[in-house]
Amino acid sequence: MIDDSSIQKENQNMNNIDDWVAHYRTFSKEGKNASYIPALEKVNSSNLGISIIGPDGTMIKSGDWNVPFTLQSISKVISFIAACMHHGIPYVLDRVDLEPTGDPFNSIIRLEMHKPGKPFNPMINAGAITVSAILPGQTPQEKLESIYLLMEKMVGKRPSLNEEVFVSEWQTANRNRALAYYLKETGYLEIEVEEALEVYLKQCSLEVTTEDIAIIGLILAQDGYHPIRKEQVLPKEVARLAKSLMLTCGVYNASGKFAAYIGIPAKTGVSGGIMSAVPPRVRNEEFPFQEGCGIGIYGPAIDEYGSSVAGVMLLKKIADTWDLSIF
Ligand code: DON
Repeated sequence: MIDDSSIQKENQNMNNIDDWVAHYRTFSKEGKNASYIPALEKVNSSNLGISIIGPDGTMIKSGDWNVPFTLQSISKVISFIAACMHHGIPYVLDRVDLEPTGDPFNSIIRLEMHKPGKPFNPMINAGAITVSAILPGQTPQEKLESIYLLMEKMVGKRPSLNEEVFVSEWQTANRNRALAYYLKETGYLEIEVEEALEVYLKQCSLEVTTEDIAIIGLILAQDGYHPIRKEQVLPKEVARLAKSLMLTCGVYNASGKFAAYIGIPAKTGVSGGIMSAVPPRVRNEEFPFQEGCGIGIYGPAIDEYGSSVAGVMLLKKIADTWDLSIF
């Protein structure tokens, strides 16, 4: 994760995105591919790619921007939005809170410490499994369908499911099973454990590129308005709620550092994706996306918090150069 030492490592002479990608790619070796999901361990750990998309359709793309990767925890933002759109915000917030934990994404500790065990937020696994279970429909496939439909609306295509990643994770999901059984016991899981896990792990296994998550970031930056389709695809209140959760909880126990050093609502995933929503910004005339933008980054070598090492450094470079912090 970024800190002052990563700022010092910066090369002041870099002046465009291709140079930045080439430079930060070399820092991938400071991270490691997620190894607890065997299928993620074997991808090329020096990949680094980025897409930035503005509301007029202007795009900057660089590096491995088109290499597919699985959504992993970025899917938690999408399932939360789908649940809020179907049930309304109060119904969802009765089942999952809006508070950061300061704990890792798969931590179980607070569920038992704070009775009656309501998950702290929908970005940690406990909250995300709870949300996946309340998606509309009776079967896991029907519940997943609401995610597919929302993705189609936002990205313009139906993502494919990476079966290998899903099976790999399904077979090793002991911690998620433990979380789900605990939620079942406390009454926060409204369907069977295996069904909830199927929805959750399949949504994590949906394949995207940096361009896809940049578009979703852009829609969030525009408060739910799809500027390319010229359509409000999700309610403003839901978009704002999702962004506030990304900022306060999106990077788990590194969310504070991320807010302090980068200052952009973002969601990371263990496959190395980072989805960011940059609001309209007029402070820096050199910033090519004055009306805001979405930024999608992919770099599979991750740090101890489950975030792309090179990707976070690249995003920090962009935020510093164009003065993008919302604070
Ligand atoms: O629940 C899991 O273990 C994964 N499918 C998703 C975790 C994840 O992406 C955490 N984020 N950095």
